[in-house]
Parts: sequence; C-alpha cells; structure tokens
Amino acid sequence: MYTTKDLPKITTHVLQEMKLKGEKIAMLTGYDYSMARLLDESGIDVILVGDSASNVMAGHKTTLPITVDQMIYHASSVMRAVIRALVVVDLPFGSYQGNSKEALHTAIRIMKESGCNAIKIEGGEEIRESIDRILSAGIPVLGHLGLTPQSINKFGTYVVRATEDQEAAKLRKDAKLLEEAGCFGIVLEKIPSELAAEVTQSIKIPTIGIGAGKEVDGQVLVSHDMLGINMDFSPRFLRRYHNLHDEMIRSFLAYIHDVKSADFPNDREQY
Ligand code: KIV
Repeated sequence: MYTTKDLPKITTHVLQEMKLKGEKIAMLTGYDYSMARLLDESGIDVILVGDSASNVMAGHKTTLPITVDQMIYHASSVMRAVIRALVVVDLPFGSYQGNSKEALHTAIRIMKESGCNAIKIEGGEEIRESIDRILSAGIPVLGHLGLTPQSINKFGTYVVRATEDQEAAKLRKDAKLLEEAGCFGIVLEKIPSELAAEVTQSIKIPTIGIGAGKEVDGQVLVSHDMLGINMDFSPRFLRRYHNLHDEMIRSFLAYIHDVKSADFPNDREQY
C-alpha cells in the first residue's frame, strides 16, 4: 500500500522524466476534497479536475454548462486535499475560445484562486494564440486532442475521432503544434490506437490516453466511471474496478431498513 509521503512530489518535469524512462503516468479525475484525499493517498500521479464535473457532479448532459466559478470551487476543494499529485484543471467551455486575453484571464483566475498546478485546454491550431498567452504567463498547459467534448455540438456524436485521413492528419499536425508551443503533455481522447501510438512516438512530451489504446505514455479515466458509481456510461475503453453503485445502494437500503425498524441507533450509538 502506497503512502503519499514515500513518493516524490509530481511536477510537469517529473512527467517528462517518466516518459523518458518509459514509466506510465496514471491520471484520474477528482472534483471534491474527500475523493482527492483518497486519490492522493493511493499515489495517483495526476488528478484532473475535469469539466466532466458538469456531468458527474451536476448531472448535466454535456460539459458545456459548467462555469469558471464552479471549476474554481471544485479545484480549490481538491487542492485542500492534495500533497503529492499534480493537479490539472480544465478551462471550461466559453472561457478561452476565440479570445486569447480572456483565456489568459481565466487561466490566471483558476490558478490564483484554486492554487492548482496546471490547466487543460481543448483544441489545436484554432486556439494557438490562447495557448501562447497562457504559457507566456508561466502557467503549464496540458493539451487535449481527438474527441474534445466541449465541441460536441459541432461533432454531433461521441464516436471515435480521427478515423478519416484528413482528421488524422490534422491531429498529427496539432500534436506537433502543441509540443512546439510548449505544452507539457497532451490528452488523446477516443482515437484509433495506431494513430495514438504514432503521435506518442513523434513527440517528446507525454501523451495521456482515454480510449486511445496502450501505446501512449499514460492513461486517464473518470473516477466515478471506473469505480462503477455511474453505471449508465459503458464505453468500450472503460475498465470498471468496482460496482460502487450496487454497494452504495445496498448500504442505503440497510440504513433505511434499520431506521424504519428502529434498530438504529442502538444503546451504544446514543448519549
Ligand atoms: O473532463 C474530463 O474528465 C476530461 C477527461 C475525460 C480527459 O477531459
């Protein structure tokens, strides 16, 4: 069993060294203090305060509605728990596209108010100016290519991306562009494993895959999905490590039964 204090603090430089050594990077999402404590205690390398909080925590159908203030709330809660992991926070939809000054303002707010270590931003060439500005302020940036959920209304579907030559060529070009711009890594979401492997070999910064096969430098999953809290979402790339849905329901049922039958509290559970 890991304890956080035995492991070195993770920085973007450590991730770079891990790629060089061929050591895989383990990343999971976290949105609140209690989960972040568990993740950090487990020795996870990177905690992503993803805009998937919009789905997982708030019950929205897409990642689009979550606001900068809400991301800061989640990120601050995570930061209060974390000792070792690198904490990366998503810039939410509408807070960086099309206006690089606004992008920088959002990134600075998120970093200043939450104390996070880095930000993540979806897209390639079309957001280059925003990436340059954020990086010039000394804020580490993690790129995100392939299926970019903030563009769901453009894609119209969550199917595998970059299966056609033209989109694959753009992805290769964007990966190079993100590397040249100075991003410290790139998330590759739901793309063919062969393409992900090729991109991973062609750049020096680490790639972190979700539905991108095993020939990448690390993996990321949404914690609630891999724990089986949310059983509605079952893409092929998801490995479930638990069925917390059923376990939690069983516990809630037992509690309801104990309360209704006046079994709880007993003599030892009262003052
Ligand atoms: O928001 C998120 O959780 C993400 C991961 C799926 C990569 O962006």
